[in-house]
Amino acid sequence: VKDPREVVAAKRDGRRVEDEDLREFVLGYARGEIPDYLAAAFLMAAYLHPLDGGETLVLTRAMIDSGVTLPLLSVSRPKVDKHSTGGVADGVTLVFAPLAASLGLAVAKLSGRGLGHTGGTLDKLEAIPGFRTALSAEEIERQVAEVGCVVAAQTEDLVPADGALYALRDATATVASVPLIAASVMSKKLAIGTDLVLLDVKAGSGAFMKTPESAAELAEACVSLARDWGRPCSAAISDMSQPLGAAVGNALDVAEAVEVLRGERPGRLTELAVLFAGRAVDALAGDGSGEDRARTALADGSALAAFGRMVEAQGGDGRVADDPWSVLPRAAVVLGTEPAEEGYLAEVDAEAIGRAATGLGAGRVRKGDPVDPAVGIVFHPKVGDRLNTGSELAEIHARSDDDAALAAERVRAAVRVSPDPVEPPALVYGWRST
Ligand code: URA
Repeated sequence: VKDPREVVAAKRDGRRVEDEDLREFVLGYARGEIPDYLAAAFLMAAYLHPLDGGETLVLTRAMIDSGVTLPLLSVSRPKVDKHSTGGVADGVTLVFAPLAASLGLAVAKLSGRGLGHTGGTLDKLEAIPGFRTALSAEEIERQVAEVGCVVAAQTEDLVPADGALYALRDATATVASVPLIAASVMSKKLAIGTDLVLLDVKAGSGAFMKTPESAAELAEACVSLARDWGRPCSAAISDMSQPLGAAVGNALDVAEAVEVLRGERPGRLTELAVLFAGRAVDALAGDGSGEDRARTALADGSALAAFGRMVEAQGGDGRVADDPWSVLPRAAVVLGTEPAEEGYLAEVDAEAIGRAATGLGAGRVRKGDPVDPAVGIVFHPKVGDRLNTGSELAEIHARSDDDAALAAERVRAAVRVSPDPVEPPALVYGWRST
């Protein structure tokens, strides 16, 4: 086997890495034979000299081959998966998975933890007491067959190389690379035998890709991996120029998702979840009425019931579906903060809000750090809304008064107010499909 430093050196110098060498490097890292420092050096080299399409496919395949795949042959319903490239107050998966299950589809989903300034679905779900995300391949398959949806982590069995590299990227400022994100997302999607992969590629201040153009590049990289694999895939390029929902945290996100699942929280988070669920139904089982059926499932309680079943199947306290705050942990300090000036909300630095939430303890600073499920930020307004001094801009949930005051300052500094009315941004900029 080649000296792994040669793989790092090739990328450092901007050369293409031989397929077999790259594959061995990734598999060696997953087996624990290549130390973190070499893998971290490789990631930084690959960040500065992006992998080409061929290398990205080799990386994706090696991550999948680092574990077993899950063809889900025992599941008879049409199978769909959905994944976001990462955002702020982006709780779509928490809603989508039970919503799609309530519409007769099967959702088997491997999710990630918080990455950089973005939240992670696994961290959010683990805010529910008892909720287990570390499931074996057999448990995942059984739950999809019985309950219709499951949201789980990569395991030692399933895409372990992505689990390891993902945590290392988070800790080494090497996240925002199109090929690295595409390989990470698609390895988790292609390892599971689904009929359709839906991607939510985020664009804007709260995303890794700051413009719709760079997000379109990421969408194309992901769709191209799906095409090479022979898997139907559609990617939305969606707006992340402001927090999607209001809750930026873990327990806070779960509580917001329950409101959406009850049909009691109209807005951009609901709209995006309905759009994805509707698209999945239309593509796999429908007659074009997918979005209407999704709205009905939110209004009549069937999506919420599916959420409760998923939580209980994964060991969580199912009362979260009826009365979230009877089981979710609450922060010691809750501080309201007002806008610094009056006017129309023109711009939000959603990454800064995500970082403020991380600073409160909702995300990680070092690899493997625990997150605090209770803390976070509820950011109320949307771009275009009128802000008045004296009204609440955000609510900070913190462990201490000092933490809360610091986060409040950061949130106030993250908004730009205009004296003139402002048009809200589009929710979806476009789609790319295989
Ligand atoms: N989501 C993932 O699964 N991986 C990334 O690299 C970014 C977002």
